[in-house]
Amino acid sequence: MAKDVIQTGWLLLLLLCAGLPGAVIAQESKDPTVSISSAHAVFGQQCELCHEPLRGVNERLCIRCHAGPLHTTTQAVTPPCGSCHTEHQGNARLALISNDRCVGCHADVRLKAGTQPTFARTITDFTKDHPQFALSLGNGKNTRRLRLDDPGARQSDRTALIFPHERHLRADLKGPKGIVQLTCKDCHVPERDGKAMAPIDYETHCQQCHPLGFDPQFPDRVVPHGDVLYLHSYLVMTFSEKPPAPQPTPQPMGRVTRPLPSVAPITVSPSVAQRVAAAERYLYSVTCTKCHLVEATQRPLPRIVEPGIPRVWFPHAQFAHRPHRMLECAACHEGVRESKKAADVLLPGIQMCQPCHRAVRRDGVVPVQGGAPADCVTCHLYHNKAEDVEWNGPFSIQQLVGGGGTSVTPSTTQP
Ligand code: HEC
Ligand code: HEC
Ligand code: HEC
Ligand code: HEC
Ligand code: HEC
Ligand code: HEC
Ligand code: HEC
Ligand code: HEC
Ligand code: HEC
Ligand code: HEC
Repeated sequence: MAKDVIQTGWLLLLLLCAGLPGAVIAQESKDPTVSISSAHAVFGQQCELCHEPLRGVNERLCIRCHAGPLHTTTQAVTPPCGSCHTEHQGNARLALISNDRCVGCHADVRLKAGTQPTFARTITDFTKDHPQFALSLGNGKNTRRLRLDDPGARQSDRTALIFPHERHLRADLKGPKGIVQLTCKDCHVPERDGKAMAPIDYETHCQQCHPLGFDPQFPDRVVPHGDVLYLHSYLVMTFSEKPPAPQPTPQPMGRVTRPLPSVAPITVSPSVAQRVAAAERYLYSVTCTKCHLVEATQRPLPRIVEPGIPRVWFPHAQFAHRPHRMLECAACHEGVRESKKAADVLLPGIQMCQPCHRAVRRDGVVPVQGGAPADCVTCHLYHNKAEDVEWNGPFSIQQLVGGGGTSVTPSTTQP
């Protein structure tokens, strides 16, 4: 109803104004029925911020406030902002993008001359012809795309950490205080924005069951986890002490990544040096190697191969765990209970999303029923946010909100 009224008003306005240049309109009629979106409402009466005298709406004016960068450098055509973003249609419309806008290009993607395709040529519907999800392995120019159903894809988790899910999810796992049944949330808790899971952290998730003891004479002590030089300094200090000093307070969240400056060049007695060496031999051949690849070639101290646990698996899509919290984790992460090595990729393929995310009946662009949304923009962005860098706009507060007789003369020094 309200929408109809607005649309009728809008049509009337259009009819009234037909033939007049946008500029005249913009300057003469400050009609409140022109229903500006809420995102722009703060300067909705400053028509000249979007309407250029004598030329109507000009995209260059939009770009003074936000770049709206393209999503790929290879696209053959650059559609105007207005082909996707509609103004004067009330609140919802500015950013409600019809699926056709995406499919218009993706039904038959056209690339700039001389560029090679990286992605599927034809995608018109998530449930019909959308390709299987792919992993992006490696980085920069050397990125290799491997679909989840390609051979080898399910064993391509490149983390250097050693970790069997299977052993840890057994019902008879030994914890420090007896048998425990771990669940996913003992190690994976969502980030505060509800999207990805927070990173794994040794101190929080492993230490209680895998403490880093190093010498029977110091049964209650553990070496600090992390930097090998810092660990070395710690051992030198510990073995030089008599009697043993109290355990330093455990590192809170972060760990010390730099050695204590005064300790590294210390000269120690041969007996201390020997005990340090023995402790390190044990740590680097038994303790650390339980979870890490250790390269002993680096003298005098070995190198722990950076675990590099992947954070983002599908860089070309957006995903959020929050709207899926009604599902059990293993509904999407199938096979996790049987997974014996970290190399296993436990991510869901497209067939796990399609039962819910499927075509819906529409009222115009508004989905009304059928399932979870299957519009391209549910899972994808259009703009490449990495290119959206200019956050220092050209305006003063007064220029935007108007009033006080201030004329709007934005500086022309901005690009
Ligand atoms: C945030 C930018 C913005 C502001 C501010 C704005 N407009 Fe617009 N206006 C547009 C865009 C964009 C269009 C093109 C229609 C569309 O979005 O499809 C338009 C179209 C129009 C049209 C239809 C004719 C044409 O030029 O296409 C009229 C009339 C109009 N605006 C009047 C106004 C008036 C009056 C004001 C000030 C009260 C105003 N506008 C403020 C963005 C703006
Ligand atoms: C004077 C500055 C200014 C101008 C000019 C301007 N915008 Fe905006 N726009 C904003 C601000 C501020 C917001 C709200 C904050 C945000 O989401 O970035 C916004 C939000 C938006 C959004 C997101 C809306 C949403 O609901 O998420 C779109 C899309 C948009 N503008 C498109 C345009 C287009 C297209 C034009 C040109 C016709 C334009 N803007 C002109 C300042 C401007
Ligand atoms: C092919 C359709 C399309 C075109 C053309 C397009 N946009 Fe968008 N825009 C989107 C979609 C989809 C979103 C929401 C998802 C996203 O942010 O990528 C969006 C979001 C935005 C937003 C809000 C989010 C943000 O990044 O702050 C702004 C502002 C915006 N667009 C401005 C522009 C401007 C300015 C232009 C013209 C230079 C433009 N857009 C051209 C599809 C488009
Ligand atoms: C003007 C044509 C055009 C429009 C409109 C368009 N795309 Fe694209 N898109 C391309 C091209 C070209 C590529 C790169 C294909 C390649 O390199 O093989 C691409 C790549 C992509 C990719 C994969 C790469 C990446 O950047 O993540 C996704 C996802 C995507 N588009 C989603 C969308 C969505 C969602 C929309 C609608 C909001 C949309 N596209 C609108 C032309 C377009
Ligand atoms: C004792 C801690 C622990 C528990 C409990 C645990 N995980 Fe993990 N999980 C990890 C670690 C460490 C990694 C990183 C190593 C890797 O990439 O396999 C990981 C990685 C993952 C990954 C991404 C890596 C991939 O290969 O797909 C998924 C998905 C995952 N876990 C799901 C689960 C689910 C679902 C549960 C519960 C059924 C669970 N995990 C329980 C420690 C745990
Ligand atoms: C509740 C206790 C508990 C937690 C928490 C725990 N583990 Fe374990 N883990 C065990 C037990 C018990 C075993 C089997 C005995 C053993 O090998 O030490 C084991 C075995 C392992 C093994 C296999 C060693 C082998 O010989 O194959 C690795 C690797 C491992 N854990 C890594 C981790 C990592 C990494 C974390 C933290 C993300 C972690 N564990 C958290 C109890 C735990
Ligand atoms: C029970 C498994 C486990 C054992 C045993 C273990 N680590 Fe780790 N280590 C992890 C996990 C999990 C990570 C990744 C998460 C983190 O940084 O806490 C990690 C990360 C690291 C990193 C990388 C830190 C960074 O900031 O990227 C270093 C270095 C490291 N460990 C050294 C060691 C050393 C030295 C030992 C032996 C004294 C050791 N670890 C023993 C599980 C273990
Ligand atoms: C329910 C979520 C979802 C919906 C809806 C969806 N996609 Fe995707 N799409 C994904 C995921 C996840 C990937 C894998 C991302 C990656 O490779 O990093 C993907 C990959 C892609 C790619 C890369 C293709 C390739 O060759 O690997 C393109 C292009 C794309 N989608 C376009 C679209 C278009 C166009 C639509 C609408 C018709 C759409 N998507 C709808 C989730 C979705
Ligand atoms: C609707 C399907 C779905 C459900 C349910 C689900 N996940 Fe995921 N999960 C995904 C997808 C898709 C990704 C890949 C996102 C990305 O990185 O691009 C992912 C990524 C992950 C990752 C690795 C990347 C990261 O965010 O650290 C972990 C760990 C993970 N999920 C754990 C869980 C746990 C624990 C649960 C249950 C609380 C769960 N997931 C429930 C679909 C799901
Ligand atoms: C059991 C049904 C179900 C399954 C299976 C499912 N989803 Fe969803 N998804 C939903 C619902 C419900 C919403 C919320 C819809 C809404 O808010 O309108 C949602 C929302 C989303 C969103 C929007 C997140 C946001 O930021 O609000 C994305 C992206 C998404 N799903 C991706 C996926 C992917 C990828 C898969 C497969 C790995 C998947 N979903 C599997 C039901 C499902």
